[in-house]
Amino acid sequence: MKDHFLGFGLGLRTQHFHDFLQPERPQVDWLEVISENFMVDGGKPRYYLHQIREHYPMVMHGVSMSIGSTDPLDRDYLRRLKTLANELQPQWISDHLCWTGVDGLNSHDLLPLPYTEEALNHVAERISQVQDYLGRQILLENVSSYLSYRESEMTEWEFYCQVVEKADCLMLLDINNIYVSARNHGFDALDYLNAIPVAPVRQFHLAGHSDYGDYVIDTHDHPVVDPVWQLYADALKRFGAVSTMIERDDHIPPLEELLRELDQARTIAHETCPALFARPDCHPQAREARL
Ligand SMILES: [Fe+2]
Repeated sequence: MKDHFLGFGLGLRTQHFHDFLQPERPQVDWLEVISENFMVDGGKPRYYLHQIREHYPMVMHGVSMSIGSTDPLDRDYLRRLKTLANELQPQWISDHLCWTGVDGLNSHDLLPLPYTEEALNHVAERISQVQDYLGRQILLENVSSYLSYRESEMTEWEFYCQVVEKADCLMLLDINNIYVSARNHGFDALDYLNAIPVAPVRQFHLAGHSDYGDYVIDTHDHPVVDPVWQLYADALKRFGAVSTMIERDDHIPPLEELLRELDQARTIAHETCPALFARPDCHPQAREARL
């Protein structure tokens, strides 16, 4: 088992704070927190976060680094991110391979980059600066997309792989995003998966989307659909034991519902790679030992 395999996790949402503070801890191996939700001093959310941290390993996931923008890196944002990381001691910090705005304007969307040599050099240099500042490698996640640029000189996966190699960073593969982009752009999701190197992949996201027939929107407000579960099984065969979580951002259901979905991920993992996942250290009880 890889030493960075955390098991099966969930995104921590405020609706479930109470559940995670009960003496009977929900059977979740680890939690992902949205960094920006906790980057202000004090307050009840931060208080609860620290209470929950005492019982669960955590990773930090951001949506505002805008690593691909041509605006200067936001030093104040990075300072607050580092402060939170010093407090939480997460296993890792992630954000998205995207840009969210330019000229000081924030689109509040995770926008894809043009897949060019120029963009590759630009974003890799900025990732290196962030990693130097934080003193650690970061994970970058593939975003779903609905548009492409005439200027692109390579596929999305070629761009992603080259950025990661050049910047010496790590990967958070969102399996649903690969499926969504494959549907929208008409490529084979397996071509994408099979092009990704095994070593840098640290985490999987699984999520739902909205299917409009001709196109698919990455809404994160539905359960994971069967073709994404199938792609998850394909990813497990290629990458082995990778920390996996369900990512639900809207229409947040009761925790029990997400726990059932997470159990489905465990079952698929055990059935797909029995030798890998039958070991006792991928069971929830092992969580206590890793805290
Ligand atoms: Fe994601």
